[in-house]
Amino acid sequence: MIAKNTIDQVYETARVEEVIGDFVNLKKSGSNYKGLSPFTDERSPSFMVSPVKQIWKDFSSGKGGNVVAFLMEHEHFTYPEAIKYLAKKYQIEVEETEQSNEQKEQANERESLYLVSEFAQGYFADILWNTQPGKAIGLSYFKERGFTEDTIRKFGLGYGLDEWDSFTTHALEKGYQLNFLEKTGLSIVKEDTSRPGQTRKFDRFKGRVLFPIHSLSGRILGFGGRILSSDKKAAKYVNSPESDIYHKSKVLYGIYFAKQAIAKEDNCFLVEGYTDVIQLHQRGIHNVVASSGTALTPEQIRMINRLTRNITVLFDGDAAGLRASLRGIDLILEQGMNVRICTFPEGEDPDSFAKNNSFEEVVLYLEEQAKDFIQFKTSLLAEDAANDPIKKADTIRDIVGSIAKIPDRIKRELYIQQCAATMNISEAVLFNTLAQISKKAYTEASKQNKNEQKAFEVIREVPRETKVDVQYELERKIIEILLLYGREEQQFEDLVLKENESGDLVLEPERIEAKVYEKIYLDLQEDEIEMTHEHFRKIYYSLMESLNEKEDFTIASFLNELDQELVNNISSILMEEEKYTLHNWESKEIYPKEKGTSVGQLVSETILTLRCFLIKKRIDTLQQGTEDQTDDNREVLEEIVNYLQLNKLLSSKLNRVLS
Ligand code: CTP
Ligand code: MN
Repeated sequence: MIAKNTIDQVYETARVEEVIGDFVNLKKSGSNYKGLSPFTDERSPSFMVSPVKQIWKDFSSGKGGNVVAFLMEHEHFTYPEAIKYLAKKYQIEVEETEQSNEQKEQANERESLYLVSEFAQGYFADILWNTQPGKAIGLSYFKERGFTEDTIRKFGLGYGLDEWDSFTTHALEKGYQLNFLEKTGLSIVKEDTSRPGQTRKFDRFKGRVLFPIHSLSGRILGFGGRILSSDKKAAKYVNSPESDIYHKSKVLYGIYFAKQAIAKEDNCFLVEGYTDVIQLHQRGIHNVVASSGTALTPEQIRMINRLTRNITVLFDGDAAGLRASLRGIDLILEQGMNVRICTFPEGEDPDSFAKNNSFEEVVLYLEEQAKDFIQFKTSLLAEDAANDPIKKADTIRDIVGSIAKIPDRIKRELYIQQCAATMNISEAVLFNTLAQISKKAYTEASKQNKNEQKAFEVIREVPRETKVDVQYELERKIIEILLLYGREEQQFEDLVLKENESGDLVLEPERIEAKVYEKIYLDLQEDEIEMTHEHFRKIYYSLMESLNEKEDFTIASFLNELDQELVNNISSILMEEEKYTLHNWESKEIYPKEKGTSVGQLVSETILTLRCFLIKKRIDTLQQGTEDQTDDNREVLEEIVNYLQLNKLLSSKLNRVLS
């Protein structure tokens, strides 16, 4: 277990905008930061981070919370994983309280897989730098490829000894469980044919140089192991198998080292191999990732899309491979990204090109040679089909098919015009083809939509009324005030009934000083007002308790002790205002005046508005009652009159606060 002390320190130190900034490209927007939701596929930003409140809210998925909640949602960390991640980021020493055996066993399995992988990375790097075979074979290989020692260290490269089980044996000696070594694929466990019932253990990465694969947040997920001999029979690369922590389709090699540069340069270079990434990085081009030899998956594209809308695919000279790869790119267009293509001279790949040219030369080449994808595809295919009308027709359909994937209509039209010019064909024909393709895609999509709708109909909730729920808003506001100003000492002006010189009862202002939470508590109690929304009620009571007990109350420490579901709720509450500015909604006119008023006024105003509202509601119910029954309802009428009087009193107080 992580000591409470460490957890507190983590909460005090971690800045939500810094932590999220490592995953989402955030732009300053007023006192907040805005970005594209990392949880949905949106195109306009509705993800908000508040540095003041130290919370985040994603309006497109409804998720929200504090810094820990973000890591749990986004990285699928457990609570301890998230704390440890933050501790590492902010160089806070993690103090662990002694675990019982049972707790040890329960320790999260994924965390164990991470730990085993981290251990392996350290081990293989140690072999590379500090053993004779490591230095003579592994290190000299990397150096021959032109990697500097700094680069080799930065990417954590390593070497696996050419022995059957030296890694596995060492890991077991260190206390790592075979179970996890096997699940990460680092060790292979086989039935021993000569001794039935017994097993034999082997190292997966034997006699290979190793490229550790990092997650977006820098944890080790797996390895790629390259063979050193040119043995044609053995696979060039052996990779870690899929595991609970390594999902090949969701990982981009190099993303951890590239993410900041991608956001900063607002472009991502996509290459095929580990060595291409490392060589370009070493050359000073840091915004580069690899798909590891396969076509990009939608998850990988989304990962890039969160950092930039622009992607430049770098292809080796091989023309056949190039044509085959073009298809995969439609997927990138579909996500609304701008795709450019850059090819290299015959026999060169990004790796060799970066190795043999200076930084300036590489940058210039990439700038000059990168072509817009549609243009590139058009001219490439136009060449192929120049003298073959049938082929030309297919080609046109192929290109228009790509154009149809682009979500932006204006862009589509511009491409059609360009394509018409290059292919020497009328725009009208192309627009026709586009319309046909789009229509077909549309019918298919709506078919699918209908099916989805059917599946939803069963469970769809009653649509929320669009009308503003005043009571909800007011209860929310009270929670917000308590969170933000709960322990502040404020001046409140109250109107109390007093007898004046001539003996009449009049309202006289009286100033009192009180803590905000005390004032709210007493005011609500006076009218026996309970929050009607269950979550608010729970939060209200926890808050009152916390505000009452803790002189050093902070939102962060309060959230720390609350269960995650309520934490999510609180983020919604605190971010609600931002939502309105975000969507530029009209002011709801529940609080006619807010900016520039003091906290004291805000409190009085909110409480009084709620009291007035509840009284009106009560009066309405009572009146309904009098309509329903015709006999004696004098008592009810009396009650109504009392309430009307109270309402008048409260209204005049409210007016005074508002004026
Ligand atoms: N790859 C793989 N298995 C293979 C071949 C390739 O997983 N048998 C993946 C690796 O991720 C590799 C990428 O495809 O990095 C590109 O392949 P290639 O260009 O052959 O590898 P490089 O890493 O560029 O290696 P090198 O330049 O040393 O040949
Ligand atoms: Mn290569």
